Amino acid sequence: MNRRAAPIGKLVVVGLGLIGASLALAARQRGLAGEVIGVSRRTSTLDLALHNGVIDRVADSLQSLAGELCSGDLVVIGVPTLTVPAVLRDCAEFLDPAVTISDVASVKGSVVEAALAAYPAPPVQLVPGHPIAGSEKSGVTAANPQLFVDHRVILTPLEQSGADHVERVRALWQGSGAIVSTMSVADHDEILAATSHLPHFLAFSLVDTLAGLRADREIFRYAAGGFRDFTRIAASDPVMWRDIALANRGAVLQVLDKLTDDFGRLRGAIERSDGEHLLALFTRAQAARQHFGQLLEQGLDSDTMSAKSITFTAAPGGSAVGTIRVPGDKSISHRSIMLGALADGLTEVTGFLEGEDSIATLRAFRAMGVQIEGPQQGRVVIHGVGLHGLKAPEQPLDVGNAGTGMRLLAGLMAGQPFDSVLVGDESLSGRPMGRVADPLRAMGAQIATNEGGRPPLRITGGQQLSPLNYTLPMASAQVKSCLLLAGLYCAGETVVTEPAPTRDHTERMLRGFGYTVDSESLGGGATRVSLRGGGALTGGRIDVPADISSAAFFMVAAAITPGSDITLEHVGINPTRVGVVNILRAMGADLTLSGEREVGGEPVADIRVRYAPLHGIEIDESQVPLAIDEFPVLFIAAACAQGETVLTGAEELRVKESDRIQAMADGLATLGVQATPTSDGIRITGGPIGGGRVSSQHDHRIAMAFTIAALRASHEIVIDDCNNVATSFPTFAELAQQVGIKLKVD
Ligand code: S3P
Repeated sequence: MNRRAAPIGKLVVVGLGLIGASLALAARQRGLAGEVIGVSRRTSTLDLALHNGVIDRVADSLQSLAGELCSGDLVVIGVPTLTVPAVLRDCAEFLDPAVTISDVASVKGSVVEAALAAYPAPPVQLVPGHPIAGSEKSGVTAANPQLFVDHRVILTPLEQSGADHVERVRALWQGSGAIVSTMSVADHDEILAATSHLPHFLAFSLVDTLAGLRADREIFRYAAGGFRDFTRIAASDPVMWRDIALANRGAVLQVLDKLTDDFGRLRGAIERSDGEHLLALFTRAQAARQHFGQLLEQGLDSDTMSAKSITFTAAPGGSAVGTIRVPGDKSISHRSIMLGALADGLTEVTGFLEGEDSIATLRAFRAMGVQIEGPQQGRVVIHGVGLHGLKAPEQPLDVGNAGTGMRLLAGLMAGQPFDSVLVGDESLSGRPMGRVADPLRAMGAQIATNEGGRPPLRITGGQQLSPLNYTLPMASAQVKSCLLLAGLYCAGETVVTEPAPTRDHTERMLRGFGYTVDSESLGGGATRVSLRGGGALTGGRIDVPADISSAAFFMVAAAITPGSDITLEHVGINPTRVGVVNILRAMGADLTLSGEREVGGEPVADIRVRYAPLHGIEIDESQVPLAIDEFPVLFIAAACAQGETVLTGAEELRVKESDRIQAMADGLATLGVQATPTSDGIRITGGPIGGGRVSSQHDHRIAMAFTIAALRASHEIVIDDCNNVATSFPTFAELAQQVGIKLKVD
């Protein structure tokens, strides 16, 4: 076999079971060692290994290799866990201390203990390891050189382990395709007891119990998916698992005791017919399992545990034709969870946006003890706990990418009797929170932020809030909503005056839940919104309309593409959100609304857009808060319009998920469009759009806007870093392809 330069001299594998033999075979096939030697007590195993090409040569003991191994060579112990101490004693007796030693046992504490007993001092050459790979198959005949590819291998080096020895072992596993991480011996054994050992013992125990129910084992004829899925691992090697149970006794007993307690509570709930308890337990577990499923999809084995990066490639020449319904409104989805949780009784939500932002809010409320069923095809059922029923979360509440989640929660948390910490992702952690923290402090809240008023927000509970009469320094529905939510916990009237109309979903939904909120127009676009604390919310039904902010991408797609004709169904057209309709019409778009109706307090309509030539305009500043999230894609419309489009009064765009003025100006410049950013807006001159590579700048709406630009581009547009699209519009790529946009997702 043609070998590459070998970083390891001789690789000796002691014990040729599934793991040892697979490692030997991977090392041989990938040229990871100068020579691969197998050691086993059984000559039949050695013969088979040699015959199957698993090893280069055999040795019947470590003693027989004593004089021959030296620095650069590596011995990997692949015998059952309880046999490892005997092999370590041989290592101590026969091997030169320069030879690197590692193992693959599933328990690390017992290996280290055995090494300390076999050697006079902790051996520098020992690097304990554990590949998290395997199958229910065993033995040398099951050897699979791909077994470790993309699987995690945990190394648990001792304080004394030499760096060169650690590197040698790491190189072997990485060369076999594995992802190597390191942790302490104690952490390893505790984590593995919970995630690997316990499930195996449960599977063995369940199969044994069922087999004992009927002597004839006929029962298995009727066992279908559930049994099969749950018990596959009960076919694993009994000797190996006996050894693991004994070697990791302490950690296994601890987690087994915890499970036994929980199981006792489950039994009690079934005995008492306590459906609430069962539903709460199953819902929590379902959510946790779904989260795990997502991690698996994103690549659980990636070292950072973060999602793999998604790139969009949008080719020119696509169309924009069809009838689609975009997912539910993000703003309303966030609020449905929050107010549903604070209401008395059940709230059933349909059309809920199953995007990362709103799911993060849902998780935050689960973490505060609220039972929430779903989401399933947009249906969520919230078991409201009342205004004073939230429980202290055990961990910081992670709202992910969502400014709405963090700012609205800040108001709510300020009024709770317990402490809380609100954290977010990298983009959110750079966004200003002083705009909510300052007025909340004026109400008596205690909130600590990072420098510059950035997250995390550390909120000290148990403060009596007093009402505030506050005029918003900027048009922000998030700040208004935050203060109204805090106002629910104040004795007296909280008043928020907004200089220009911003989205009023909070007010509408509060009223829908039977809470009195007054809104009074002060003229010139200003509104005074007020409520009194101390009331109660009553749960009900919420039908979330399709999000006009998501629909906007397809409205622009149709507006700029000759031959297009798109109908967007059931779109929310709340008057505080229709800036995109007004602006596109002012630019000459052919846009019609039909079937206007009201659903659960929010107006909706079907929106049809057909191609018509657009012309540049000066955007009326009164439209800015009404189209605040739609500007990235409106800039694409401007790039396709005849003449210049000028936006002013929109400095808020600089503190969204990205600096949207700069992010769009940069991307448009890459595509050859003349775009000049200003402190509070941008000037864009319509003209030909080229191709190129742009970055989403961690911002979902930038990613989607440049995808739409490809419809009028001369060359392909590649958009990096598009994972964030899932925060607001997880089905964007699918729907884009459905209407004829030539989009490829990598
Ligand atoms: C939102 C309000 C807007 C908007 C955001 C959602 C809301 O932010 O940009 O995407 O749900 O209240 P501001 O109110 O801060 O402008």
